[in-house]
Amino acid sequence: MTVRDELVAIVLAAGQGTRMKSDRPKVLHEVAGRPMVAFAVEAAIRAGAKEVVVVVGHGREDVEAALGERFSSGVRIAVQAEQRGTGHAVRCAMPALEGWDGRVVILYGDCPLVPAQAIEALHAASRLSGGPLAMLTAELDDPTGYGRILRDGGGRVVAIREHRDCTGEERRIREVNPGIYAVDAAFLRGALDRLGSDNAQGELYLTDVVAMAAEEGAVASVPWDMAVLRGVNDRWELAEADRGMRERILRAHAREGVTLRAPWATFIDADVRIEPDAVIEPGVVLRGRSVIGAGARVDVGCVLDNVTVAAGAWLKPYTVATDSAVGERAQTGPFSHLRPATDLGPDTRVGNFVETKKTRMGRGSKANHLAYLGDGQIGEDVNVGAGTIFCNYDGYQKHTTVLEDGAFVGSDSQIVAPVTIGKGAYVGTGTTVTRDVPADALAISRVKQVNKEGYASRLRARLKKK
Ligand code: UD1
Ligand code: CA
Repeated sequence: MTVRDELVAIVLAAGQGTRMKSDRPKVLHEVAGRPMVAFAVEAAIRAGAKEVVVVVGHGREDVEAALGERFSSGVRIAVQAEQRGTGHAVRCAMPALEGWDGRVVILYGDCPLVPAQAIEALHAASRLSGGPLAMLTAELDDPTGYGRILRDGGGRVVAIREHRDCTGEERRIREVNPGIYAVDAAFLRGALDRLGSDNAQGELYLTDVVAMAAEEGAVASVPWDMAVLRGVNDRWELAEADRGMRERILRAHAREGVTLRAPWATFIDADVRIEPDAVIEPGVVLRGRSVIGAGARVDVGCVLDNVTVAAGAWLKPYTVATDSAVGERAQTGPFSHLRPATDLGPDTRVGNFVETKKTRMGRGSKANHLAYLGDGQIGEDVNVGAGTIFCNYDGYQKHTTVLEDGAFVGSDSQIVAPVTIGKGAYVGTGTTVTRDVPADALAISRVKQVNKEGYASRLRARLKKK
């Protein structure tokens, strides 16, 4: 492979995105749980770009941080301090590509559905043509807003005209500019120097480079399906891109062996991983970097955000979990709430109306009904009875409850932390534990029961008189 076959990419992400009506830079709005700009960068990398220069400007610290979080090497930042148009943005990227004389692919950061294959096809066409510029093209029934492709009598591309600069007749052209180009670097440098701002927006348009390329040689055009090339300019287009991306994600999981009972009512973020034979029931939302293990079942209405579910686990309906881990064959729900740093070991059970937070549970332990388990260190084979509360908060600090292996906590007990209940110890039903319980001991703080024979009818008689 010669340098002429290699590829670098520029992603434009400096604009504000006025039509989003947002304080957030447009490219940070999320599609399938990922900032939009990340998709363009990833598509370029997957298509073989050995380096990607992202042009940032509006909200640049945030955009840079989001990129830094996701991409370690191969992604560089160029700054466009003032947004003077897409041509100006590319100019700002060129110093980062000093000395590069191969091809440069240019993409807009607001087109999240662009597949790597489209970039690969474009790159191949540009190598084949040998001309200074190749671009994707597409047809739209309603081309409003997009730049139109102007061709001469012989069908050769001669220029791009922005929607706002079009004559009435040009507006009827349905062939549009999706905004993805492969350009010879040396030609690009010269062309950028010659850009003017004589247009409706007074900006330096990248699209004017196309007319210059047409003058120097043929512009190669590769038709593609616009459904995946659409830009996101407002919140409705964001919602449509989100839907398109989620459908793609669902299809990929299904093809990899995941059962989706109702894909039309299932929401899976782009960074979620699911192993084969997992079953995802209707109404499930999987967010962030959740991982679902082989054969695990995520039942109706579960909402998981950054949750790792091990093989064979069963999250029964309406388990809501965040930043947590569920071990092999463990079961939760219905209606369990696992708050951050919950770590349920293998074969554990957490049942209905049980809330956990920063609590680790060892193999085989159970809390099947109605409990609050905050800041707990629970060993193996521990039984936590119905209605148990870990009183972890004194109004100032959080304290830890330790339940050692084999401990048994009777129903309706309050464990006032910090406290340790030793190995195999037994806590009687209704006990308020305020001091450590030694291993194998019984703790009981219950008031002794008194039965008064015949008292109930006497009481009723007395109450009736009043
Ligand atoms: C652009 C194209 C249009 C094409 C459409 C495809 C131009 C002049 N027009 O129009 O032909 O049909 O995309 O979606 O290129 N940006 C910067 N700096 C700037 C201006 C923009 O980095 O100074 C970035 C934005 O962040 C955005 C991208 O470039 O990611 C495109 O900008 P946008 O304003 O959305 O261009 P469109 O009007 O959609
Ligand atoms: Ca756009």
